[in-house]
This record gives sequence, C-alpha cells and structure tokens, in this order.
Amino acid sequence: MTQSAGQGGAIWRAMTMANLPDVMAIAVAVHPDYPEDEAIFAERLALYPAGCLCLVDADGAAGYVLSHPWRPCDIPALNALLGAIPADAAAYYIHDLALLPHTHGTGAASDVVARLVEHARNSGFAGMALVAVNRSAGFWQRHGFRETHDAALDRKLASYDDAARYMTREF
Ligand SMILES: CC(C)(COP(=O)(O)OP(=O)(O)OC[C@H]1O[C@@H](n2cnc3c(N)ncnc32)[C@H](O)[C@@H]1OP(=O)(O)O)[C@@H](O)C(=O)NCCC(=O)NCCS
Repeated sequence: MTQSAGQGGAIWRAMTMANLPDVMAIAVAVHPDYPEDEAIFAERLALYPAGCLCLVDADGAAGYVLSHPWRPCDIPALNALLGAIPADAAAYYIHDLALLPHTHGTGAASDVVARLVEHARNSGFAGMALVAVNRSAGFWQRHGFRETHDAALDRKLASYDDAARYMTREF
C-alpha cells in the first residue's frame, strides 16, 4: 500500500521494525486495558507487512494499524503469537487500529479503513472481521461492519471484555 496524506497533514506509511517503540508507546496510551507485548506486534509485522501501517504527522508517530489474513469466524487470542498465517485464512482481520487523541476527527482512521477494504477486496478475501473495543462499534458500522454472534466466538471474546463485539463485513 502506498503513502497517503489525511486532512490534518498526517500520512499513513508502511510500518517498519524501527517504528515499534513508537507504536508500543501509542498502544500503551490508547489501549491500557488490552496490553500486548512488543513481540506480538513484531510478529504480525513480519508475517504480513502489507497490513501494518503507521500514521505520521509533524510531531512523529500518531497512530497505527495492524491487520492480516485470518480464518473466518475466529478470533486470535489477545497477546498471543499467531505462529503463521493459516492456509485457510479466507478473511481479512483488522487486529488493531489506534490513533492518538489529537488526530481524532481528521478522517485519518476512515482513510486507512478504506485502504484496508480495498486491499482485502483486491487480494480476493471473502470478507473482513475485527473485534470492536472502546465503544468503537459505531465507527465500524459506518464502514459496513455488522455485529456477528456465535457461541464459540462469544466465549473467546471473554478474553477482551463484556463490551467487545465481533464484527464482520462480507464482500
Ligand atoms: C476508533 C477510532 C480509530 C476512530 O477515529 P476517528 O479519528 O474518530 O475517525 P475519523 O476521523 O475517520 O471519523 C470518522 C467518522 O466516524 C465517527 N466516529 C468515530 N468514532 C465513532 C464511534 N465510536 N461511534 C460512532 N461514530 C464514530 C466520527 O465522528 C466521524 O464522523 P464524521 O465523518 O461524520 O465526522 C479512534 O477513535 C481511536 O483510535 N480510538 C481508540 C482506539 C480504538 O478504540 N480503536 C478501535 C479498536 S477496534
């Protein structure tokens, strides 16, 4: 995926291993209730670099997104290594999208979601999935995602919290 500039002058760039300290600092600030080790971020970046982007503005790193192919109707456990992208990974999974508060409302989040949708569609995936946390379900609904329920998935969601929602978008 190529670079693109948002309304506030921020740019989405391909993430590199050198960005991980900044990405971790954003994760700690934005997701204090869902701590994940740097090894989790590094592994996803190594396994699927095309799905990992950093938002950069005049002050430096301001957000990130991690995404990768995954099995439909399945949720990778929090703070757990994937091991590999599964051979039956027919869905495109957004693991995390996090922006620092000063960039909210600039359209940067919507910009990268549109790019990920385009990437997933062009790559032949059947659809997309994510776990919405932090009351973000409304944001995802605006991008065509709908809540999906399944008994086994609902048990896995317990590793997040009661407010977490599994959401999907079919193509
Ligand atoms: C969720 C998040 C990425 C949205 O970022 P954002 O900067 O508000 O996104 P955008 O500027 O692209 O906003 C797009 C639109 O969605 C709306 N929106 C944002 N969050 C929303 C929510 N929770 N519910 C409903 N609408 C929402 C905005 O008001 C905006 O509306 P507009 O276009 O009519 O002005 C951002 O709030 C964030 O990083 N939150 C913390 C981390 C997080 O919860 N990530 C999601 C994990 S699954």
